[in-house]
Formats: sequence, C-alpha cells, structure tokens
Amino acid sequence: MKRRLLFLGPPGAGKGTQAQRLAEHHDLLHLSTGDLLRAEVRSGSELGRRAEAVMARGELVSDDLVLAIVRHRLEGHGGGWLLDGFPRNLGQAEALEHLLAELHQEIELVVLMELPDEVLLQRLLQRGRADDDEAVIRNRLEVYRQQTAPLIDHYRDRDLLRPIDAAGTMDEVSERIETVLTGPV
Ligand code: AP5
Repeated sequence: MKRRLLFLGPPGAGKGTQAQRLAEHHDLLHLSTGDLLRAEVRSGSELGRRAEAVMARGELVSDDLVLAIVRHRLEGHGGGWLLDGFPRNLGQAEALEHLLAELHQEIELVVLMELPDEVLLQRLLQRGRADDDEAVIRNRLEVYRQQTAPLIDHYRDRDLLRPIDAAGTMDEVSERIETVLTGPV
C-alpha cells in the first residue's frame, strides 16, 4: 500500500474526515495544515494571531509560515504520512518537493476528492466552523480554483493523481480511497 500521500480537493470534500480514518487504520502521520494553524490560533501565539485574520477571510496563510510547520513535523519522522490541505499552490508544491528530496522521501500518490460546489456548501454550512460562513466559503472555493486547482495538472503530469468521487457515505468514500491506495500507480 502507498504510505506517502497527499489529499487534494476543495473545502468540504471530506479530506480531513477521510485522512483521519485512513491515518488511524494504517498508522500514518496525519498532517493537516488547517488543524495545525487552528491550534496556533487557539494558543494565542504571535503566529496564531497573524494567521487568524487571514483564515477568517478564507485566504491562504503565507507559504513561509506553513512550510516551517510542515518541515518541523516531517523532519525526524521515518514512517508513512498523509498531508491534508498542503500543498495549496504551486510554490508550496515545489518547496515540498525540495524538502522531500532532502529527506530522501517521495510522494507515492495524490488522492483528488471531487464533489459539486452545492454539496460542498451544504456540508460546510452544516458543520459551522468559524470560517464556514457562506461568503467566506465561496471565497475559499475561489481561492481553491485559482491557486490550488493548478496542482491537479501538476500531479497528473507526474502520474501521481488518482481522482475519486467524494459523494456518498463516509464508508463508501473510504472504500474508494482504500482501493486506489492498493492499486497500481
Ligand atoms: P483547511 O482546514 O485545510 O480547510 P479546507 O481545505 O477549507 O477544508 P475543510 O476542512 O473545510 O474541508 P475538508 O475537505 O477537510 O472536509 P471535512 O472532512 O472537514 O484550511 C482552513 C484555512 O487554513 C484556509 O482557508 C487557509 O486560510 C489556512 N490554510 C490551511 N492550509 C494552508 C496552506 N497549506 N497554506 C496556506 N493556508 C492554509 O468535511 C467537511 C464536513 O463534511 C464535515 O462536517 C464532515 O463531517 C462532513 N462530511 C465529510 N464527509 C462526508 C460525507 N461522505 N457525507 C456527508 N458529510 C460528510
């Protein structure tokens, strides 16, 4: 099974939900930059204060800050990992490739979770996180389309991309992901 994974997809596609399940089931390090940033905000640190306003608008926090967080977690971790919500733009993807080359590791598979906008919106409005206000969700979707969606071609060109249908129950989606992880690249 592939054990060095990226989860890509729009806000609300279920990346966090599925990443957590998979990481528990297969003993992978689950690294969600969104969760790590929210922990910084809760801690009241200077970094958290800077990130909070950016996140409340649904914009991306600076690459340097996010990269420092990811580097800190991956260095010294020998096992498998699952990156959820990172990279988020081409600059982060390139920086990640340099970091992984340094660590003598490489991405084995990128799971792209696909879901129509109206379903994403409904899921997020029901969740009600601080940035799940309708106007902010629409901005997050726009940021995804402009900055993150170009990563789809980036990983498709490298033969790493596996799109999956993120509609249906959580168990159905988990099953689809398990199937692509054990299949041929
Ligand atoms: P982040 O935390 O990454 O949020 P996101 O990408 O907007 O993703 P979500 O958490 O909203 O959705 P998800 O796909 O994980 O879905 P989930 O499983 O939660 O980022 C938040 C902010 O942090 C960004 O806007 C940015 O400011 C900053 N940030 C983070 N990473 C960054 C980076 N690398 N660079 C710069 N800035 C960064 O599911 C959503 C809901 O749907 C849940 O309620 C869940 O229970 C439900 N659900 C899940 N699956 C199903 C299902 N099958 N059926 C029904 N409901 C379901």
